[in-house]
Amino acid sequence: MSVNLSKVTFFLNGDKISYNGNPSARLLDVLRGELGLTGTKCGCKEGECGACAVLINGRLVNSCLVAVGSLERTTVVTIEGYTKSKRFTALDEAYASQSAVQCGFCIPGMILASESILASNPDPTEEEIRTGISGNLCRCTGYNSIVRAVGIAAKTLASQEAGGGDADGGGGGVELECGARCDAGLGCDPDAGANGMMLTEALVLRKNNPELIPYTGGTDLMVSGECEKGKYLFLSNIPDLRNIYSDDNFIRFGAACTFSNVIEHPLTPEILKEACKQIAAPAIRNAGTIGGNIANGSAKADSALIFVVTDSLIRLSNINGERTIPVRDFYLGGGKTLLANDELIVEVLMPKTGIDNYYYKKVGARNALSIARTSFAGILDIKEGIIDNCAVAFGAVVDVIIRFDDIDNMLIGKTIEEAKALKEDYIAAYDKAIIPRRGRVSIEYRKDVCINLLRDFLEQSGI
Ligand code: FES
Ligand code: FES
Repeated sequence: MSVNLSKVTFFLNGDKISYNGNPSARLLDVLRGELGLTGTKCGCKEGECGACAVLINGRLVNSCLVAVGSLERTTVVTIEGYTKSKRFTALDEAYASQSAVQCGFCIPGMILASESILASNPDPTEEEIRTGISGNLCRCTGYNSIVRAVGIAAKTLASQEAGGGDADGGGGGVELECGARCDAGLGCDPDAGANGMMLTEALVLRKNNPELIPYTGGTDLMVSGECEKGKYLFLSNIPDLRNIYSDDNFIRFGAACTFSNVIEHPLTPEILKEACKQIAAPAIRNAGTIGGNIANGSAKADSALIFVVTDSLIRLSNINGERTIPVRDFYLGGGKTLLANDELIVEVLMPKTGIDNYYYKKVGARNALSIARTSFAGILDIKEGIIDNCAVAFGAVVDVIIRFDDIDNMLIGKTIEEAKALKEDYIAAYDKAIIPRRGRVSIEYRKDVCINLLRDFLEQSGI
């Protein structure tokens, strides 16, 4: 059993729940199997279908990827709770008016995804609605009628607001009959960890229980079929791991900040924002974290690619002290990292300057599925007509994120005209250096994609 929790206390549809079972159990299974809330459906248990979606602290999250132990002091709303809200009526009537339901299996998740859209954006465009439901699969109704229904519900709710706030939860959020309320907050919630574990306590637990797996978002850990047997150290409520702030040289992202926190924060540089926006769908972005994305040691990790190309640093702590190293040195290949078994990732330090001229592309099968087939990021920083920095990084090509300083140095210190003259040599050097591994796509395909992205980056940069 995971430590730091003898029981988990949270609010579920307005009721206080004290859970004494296995803290590593999936919330989905606990809802359906132990609490009888079968409105939450199980489609894939991999975060891909959205049938299991619930609202946690007002955010859409896939309950199949949540360990119950991570829920301490959170507010969870399932479809059973949401149908008691007046806001549900607007969606219910709109879905019915558009015949946006056939078998109904996806609909609990769709309704909560719809609420999530409307809570944070009362007047969404069609594109915003499609993005909002992009993590929810429907196999029979088709999406057009659902998109229309969400648009109609938005108008209904707006007219109710204008007419005196007939719908509850004005300005977004869910108010239940019991009076419990969970708003869709934006950015990090500074109070979320107010009564929770502090970093020093977590470091002591880490030292004394090295077998525990650090858990922040769960979106990787809970995909495994064995996840319920995992022994986790739950870190998501620790305030020191949830900060985003800047100092003279860096913007600092706490390891437990979700991708949504990062996207919404005004300090986040555009290159990181763009990469995080392309990570899967809203329910994954609301749970997956910066620290988890790096700790998994994957060369496919989208935010890690950005940290590598921008020469970002990572701060690691144990009970005796801390060390700060380049993110690119953190990876050892084959899913292994430099994280010692008494250490935790505390934050990532991203340089504030020299990263504005960037290029980022992710090539994958389906946008709302997070796995990149190949990803690329490039930085070209020009000062007074001279290339001051050139850095490119490739993800999902081999088992580490790759950079070749020697090749990039060919362009540093050159003018754009000089770089143009060196362009084909530069590309040829990369063509020789990149030796992709075979995966779901062929070696040749991966190589072609890499070189095409490199060319595109150079052309966008005027080379
Ligand atoms: Fe498919 Fe959870 S069951 S996303
Ligand atoms: Fe059948 Fe969506 S209504 S899966």
